[in-house]
Amino acid sequence: MPRILITSALPYINGIKHLGTLAGSMLPADVYARFNRSLGRETLYLCATDEHGTTTEIAAAEAGQDVSDFCALQHRIQYDLGRRFGLSWDHFGRSSAPQNHRLTQRFAQTLWEHGFLEERVTQQVYSLADKRFLPDRYVIGTCPHCGYQAARGDQCENCTRVLDPADLINPRSAISGSTEIEIRDSKHLFLRQSLFAGRLRSWIESKRGEWPLLVTSIALKWLDEGLQDRGVTRDVAWGVPVNAFEWGPNPEGRRPDIQGLADKVFYVWFDAPIEYIGVTWEWADARAVEAGRRGAEDAEWERWWRLPLADDVVYSEFMGKDNVPFHTVGFPTTLMGVNERQDGEGGWVSAETRPWKLVDQLKGFNYLDYYGGKFSTSLKRGVFMDAALELLPADYWRWWITANAPETSDATFTWEQFQAQVNADLADVLGNFVNRICKFTESRFEGRAPDGGEPGELEQRLARDVAAKLAELTELMEAREFRKSTTALRQLWVLGNQYLTEAAPWTAIKTDPARAAVAVRTGLNLVALFAKVSEPFIPFAAEKIATAVGEPFPGRWPEPDEALSALEPGRPIAAPDVLFRKVEDAQVAEWLARFGGPEARVEPA
Ligand code: MF3
Ligand code: ZN
Repeated sequence: MPRILITSALPYINGIKHLGTLAGSMLPADVYARFNRSLGRETLYLCATDEHGTTTEIAAAEAGQDVSDFCALQHRIQYDLGRRFGLSWDHFGRSSAPQNHRLTQRFAQTLWEHGFLEERVTQQVYSLADKRFLPDRYVIGTCPHCGYQAARGDQCENCTRVLDPADLINPRSAISGSTEIEIRDSKHLFLRQSLFAGRLRSWIESKRGEWPLLVTSIALKWLDEGLQDRGVTRDVAWGVPVNAFEWGPNPEGRRPDIQGLADKVFYVWFDAPIEYIGVTWEWADARAVEAGRRGAEDAEWERWWRLPLADDVVYSEFMGKDNVPFHTVGFPTTLMGVNERQDGEGGWVSAETRPWKLVDQLKGFNYLDYYGGKFSTSLKRGVFMDAALELLPADYWRWWITANAPETSDATFTWEQFQAQVNADLADVLGNFVNRICKFTESRFEGRAPDGGEPGELEQRLARDVAAKLAELTELMEAREFRKSTTALRQLWVLGNQYLTEAAPWTAIKTDPARAAVAVRTGLNLVALFAKVSEPFIPFAAEKIATAVGEPFPGRWPEPDEALSALEPGRPIAAPDVLFRKVEDAQVAEWLARFGGPEARVEPA
C-alpha cells in the first residue's frame, strides 16, 4: 500500500484567505487527504504559512507590530480558520521555523558547491532615509508614459506599462515617502536554472497525460520561452539569512564572497517550497515532543522525502495555476541541483546517496472568482474565510467549492448559484433523506434498526446501482477529479431517495410490516454509507450522520459489495437535528448588499 504525502500551496501570512485560495489548494488537498485516510493508507497532509519578504515587513509595519509578532499572530489566525473549515492538516507549520532555515541554508550550500549558484553584481534602489534597499514595487513616482503620480517601480497601475524603477520621474520610497534614494551595487546569488532546461523538460514530458493538461502546458510554455537564471537572494531583513561562512569551494575552486553576501536573505520563492520539507520536519518534531522526546530523529521525517526510504511514497501537490511555474521549474531545479551535479564532460552524475523526492502528482487549478471579477482584499470584494464561517457552517462552503472546483476552466461564485445548489443538494437531497428515514425509524420502530423480512428485487437493483456508482466515485477520487466526484456522490444520494420513494415503507407498514422493515433497514444502511463517502467533502455533517446510525467516525471507505450491509438489526437510531437549513432569499439579498454583487465584475482602471 502506498504512503500518501500531500501538500497544498502555502498561504501567504499576510491576511485572511478568500474562497478562491481555498478552492485552488487547501480544500481539494483536504478532501484528498481524508479520502486516503479512509482507505486506511498512511497519509500526511501538511501546510504552513509562507512568511518571508518585504510584503510581510510592510504589513507588519502598517499593523504597528514587530514582524515576528505579526507573523506569529497571523499564523494563529489562519490555523484557527483552517481548523474551523475542517482542514485536517497533520501539521500547519511556518516557513520561518528553524527547520526551514536549516534546510534552506543546507540546500543553498550544496547548490553552491555543485556550481549551480553564481554571484552577480546587480543595481538596486537604496533609500537613505529608510536605511534599506527597496524592492521595485516599493519605489513610487510619476509614470513617464501617462503621468500617473503613484506609479510603482515594477508597473504603472494606471496605464499597465511595465517599468523599471529608474524610469520613474521624481522617484521616492513607498515606505517613508523620502526622495533621498540612489542606485547602489549589490551582490546577489543566481540559481543557474538554464543548465536544467533539458532535465526539466524530459521530466515534465514524462508526466504528460498523467498531470492535468493545464499543468503540463504551463510548464512546457515556461520551458519553451527559455529558462532564465534567477536571482534567489534579496536585500531584505525578514527571511532566511544566506550565511555562507561554511560553504566549500565551487567546482572552479572559488568560495562565496562572505562580505558581499552579508545581510542578504533568500528570496521568498526559494525558501517557501523548501518548507514543504521543513514542515515535515516540524511535524516530526512536534510528535516527538508530544511523546516526551526533545525532537525528531532525521529518519522520522526523511522517510517521507528521501529515496530509497520514501520509495513507497506518492507525493501530491495542490495549487492554483499561478503557482505552477515555481513548482514545475523553480523547486524541482533546487532539488535536482542538490541530487545531481555535472561531471565536467557534459554529463550528469548522482551526488546524493539518498536523493530528495520530486512531486509525483501535481494538481493545478484555474481560478475561482466572484461574479466574474477578482476577489479583492483591498476592495473588500468577495467572501473571505472568516466572514464565510459567520454566515454558514463550513460544510456549505466545502460542498459548493468542491462541486464547482475550477478544474477545467475558471469558475465563478455567485450567491444565487450558491443558494440554488446547496439548497438542492444538501438540504433537499441528502438532509431530507437522512431525516426521513431516521425519523420514521424513531416513530415506527422504537428507534431501532428493524429485523425481519428478506431483501427483494428492489434491493438487489439498488445494490447493483450503488456498487456501480460507488466504484465510479472511488475511481474519480483516486484520479483527483473533484468536481466529477461530487456529481457521482450526489447521484448516490439520489439513488437513496429514489429507493425510498419506490419502497415507500410508510405505505408498506400498513399492510406488510416485513417489507417495511427491509426498506427501513436498507435505508439506514444507505445512511451509514453516505456518512462514510461524504466525509471527505462535508465532514461536520458526515459526523452527525454517522452518529445518528451509530457508526464510528471517521469510517472506512466502503468496498462496493459491502456497501449496504454494515448495519445489524436492533441498533439504536436517533435522528440528527436539522442537518442543513435552507439558504433563504432574504439572506441572499442581505449578503449581496454586504459583499457586493454583479457590479463586482467591473475591474477598477
Ligand atoms: N504563498 C504562495 C501563494 O500564495 C504559494 C507558495 S507555495 C510554496 O501564491 F511552495 F512556495 F510554498
Ligand atoms: Zn502610466
